[in-house]
Amino acid sequence: MTHHPLWQQLVAAGQQHVLRFYEELAPDAREQLDRQLSGIDLQLLQQLTNNTLATPDWAAMARRATPPPAIRLDDRQAAFISAAAARRAGEEALRAGRAAAILVAGGQGTRLGFDHPKGMFPLGPVSGHALLQILIEKVVATARRYNASVPLYVMTSPATHTETVAYLTAHDRFGLPADDLRVFCQGTMPAVDAATGKLILAAKDSLALAPDGHGGMLEAMNRSGVLEHARERGIDLFCYGQVDNPLLQLCHPELIGYHALAESEMTTQVIRKATPLERVGNVVMVDGKMHIIEYSDLPEDVALQRNPDDTLYVWAGSIAVHVFDAAFLQRTSCRADVLPFHRAHKQVTYVDAQGVRHTPTAPNAFKFERFIFDLLPQAHNAIVVESETAEVFAPVKNADGAATDTPTTARNAMIRLHRRWLEAAGAQIADGTPVEISPLWALDAEQVAERLELPCTISQPTFLSP
Ligand code: UTP
Repeated sequence: MTHHPLWQQLVAAGQQHVLRFYEELAPDAREQLDRQLSGIDLQLLQQLTNNTLATPDWAAMARRATPPPAIRLDDRQAAFISAAAARRAGEEALRAGRAAAILVAGGQGTRLGFDHPKGMFPLGPVSGHALLQILIEKVVATARRYNASVPLYVMTSPATHTETVAYLTAHDRFGLPADDLRVFCQGTMPAVDAATGKLILAAKDSLALAPDGHGGMLEAMNRSGVLEHARERGIDLFCYGQVDNPLLQLCHPELIGYHALAESEMTTQVIRKATPLERVGNVVMVDGKMHIIEYSDLPEDVALQRNPDDTLYVWAGSIAVHVFDAAFLQRTSCRADVLPFHRAHKQVTYVDAQGVRHTPTAPNAFKFERFIFDLLPQAHNAIVVESETAEVFAPVKNADGAATDTPTTARNAMIRLHRRWLEAAGAQIADGTPVEISPLWALDAEQVAERLELPCTISQPTFLSP
């Protein structure tokens, strides 16, 4: 093996075991492994493994944190930008074709345990439509509503790319014009053995590689030409959301309007945390900059702090919905180290020295991911906008059977919201009857009120679609 071009470097880093099976590999398998190895920054990997890169002292930061500048639901009308003005400005941006949508769909969806990309999961409570269909139809409906084109950029990873592209093609992009959909693929990071720091072989001819986190979007948008494509189309803001939230309001006019009128470079949609230790990121200000502190990094005594009126001091829970200024993404995407890596302890399948495959039952490896919300402290005039949880957030993280964030909890949240819209418009719905509204029929309560023909009585499972 000593004649392999990377041999010296691998030996110096103590990683030469990855060539253990090289002699027995076919030429194309060797090529694959070579390609993977040449993409790795061994020095960075070592620093990440040993945790020797400077990482923020989250506990200390949390202790000096203050609440972020926010448009709160309670005083939305009286805020420095009124809801009506925000809606007008957002609608104007949409009509002018200045907004694009980004859906990140590169995650491995390990917790859900579905055999395909999570976006293909059949979530619609009555329709059985997949998450991707539900969300893409929201973009199609928004474009129709404002008589404009709203390009959608879908981020995949090597774990999800081929199947996602085939799925979208087979379904004619769920109605999006071909010109308005671009799928781009994020990068990967190798996993390492948590005890030894050694690279892990997932097979004799392949390293264990994992998507580099939703923060990988920044580099991938630049590399794949998405930023350039959007610039040529006159896009000046991107509405970001994740594929695992069927209640995601992608390209919501009011959110876009607050962002534009506040001249914010990055706007974050939040919910009021229901409990202090809720498992969401916490949006706070520290030393004049906005940050999201993960629930796992927030000291309990800080999480428990209350205002005199008994509301939570650290109240703003992130739902991973942002509006980005295009120029902000362009500026930051040129800086390789703008987003730090986070280390996570995970289960990773490996082949041992004898070539036998093992699937561990407990975490055995470190994976390294970047988070897109770490861009927040770089953004000028960042603001947060509060929304009602029941209207915007129903994440699908865990398989059914878990206590929270399952397909069943998300379906129930959709049914509850759609039922509320229909009842507000005058429909009579029998108790326990599931209802679902296609985004192509109505995007919100206002459109339901316009479309619903009265009298309307619903006594069996109903999917309202055009
Ligand atoms: P999560 O961090 O919840 O990960 O992703 P996940 O892949 O869905 O699920 P687990 O943790 O493996 O069980 C939140 C969102 O970010 C996307 C996911 O597709 C999801 O929409 N994501 C995550 C990426 O696009 N790329 C990544 O590298 C990680």
